[in-house]
Amino acid sequence: MAGDLPLTRNPAATEKAEAIRAAVRGATQMGESRLARPEDAAGLYALLADPKVFAPIYSLPRPLTRETVAAFIDHHLAERETGIGLLFVREGEDGRILGYSDVQVWPHWGAGELGGALHPSLHRQGAGGRGAGLSFAWMYDTLGLDLICETASLDNVATQRMLDGLGFRRLGEVTSVRPDGTTRASLVWEMTRAEWAARHDAS
Ligand SMILES: CC(C)(COP(=O)(O)OP(=O)(O)OC[C@H]1O[C@@H](n2cnc3c(N)ncnc32)[C@H](O)[C@@H]1OP(=O)(O)O)[C@@H](O)C(=O)NCCC(=O)NCCS
Repeated sequence: MAGDLPLTRNPAATEKAEAIRAAVRGATQMGESRLARPEDAAGLYALLADPKVFAPIYSLPRPLTRETVAAFIDHHLAERETGIGLLFVREGEDGRILGYSDVQVWPHWGAGELGGALHPSLHRQGAGGRGAGLSFAWMYDTLGLDLICETASLDNVATQRMLDGLGFRRLGEVTSVRPDGTTRASLVWEMTRAEWAARHDAS
């Protein structure tokens, strides 16, 4: 997660921040996705190791190995206990991991960020846009967030179109720092709960 996000910082009341932490601690499922478990390390590594999945995502472990993916899962389980992060996986019928979602939360800003990917065999069929829409709705409704802040690399056209299409506002550029300390320029979007409700809840 980039240190300078979210760009909009409205302090959440103490009770509100605590309610968000409690919702994160209690989460086990987001739509069709379940919490990642330590025994998912090999299957998640198989998904993430594809450059089409790995290259555009700044928050994944570098180097990417089965061991660093196992540590990534453990780290998210610890974040869940603290109420600030969740890692979900979506399994296919054969048990293969076909997608993952990484939810990062700033309870004191009432804000969060969603990262993730789908297996390349599922790209460009509308599944990413639909799934992201359901996940954002879950983050507002179930976690109680007031703001979602998103980033994408300058050449990640699929994510840019997805966020523009869902109504997120472009707010400029930041420098994202990867776990190995290298950096990447990122475009930034934000959307408030009220903006989301006005655009999506009536439909
Ligand atoms: C980002 C991702 C989840 C999108 O999922 P998807 O199912 O392929 O996307 P959709 O089919 O719902 O398409 C979303 C939009 O992107 C466009 N799009 C999808 N792939 C594209 C591509 N390769 N080039 C250009 N546009 C593309 C679609 O046309 C659609 O735009 P529109 O609604 O304006 O027509 C998926 O591409 C992915 O997993 N990528 C690798 C990891 C990643 O980039 N994660 C996001 C950063 S955290």
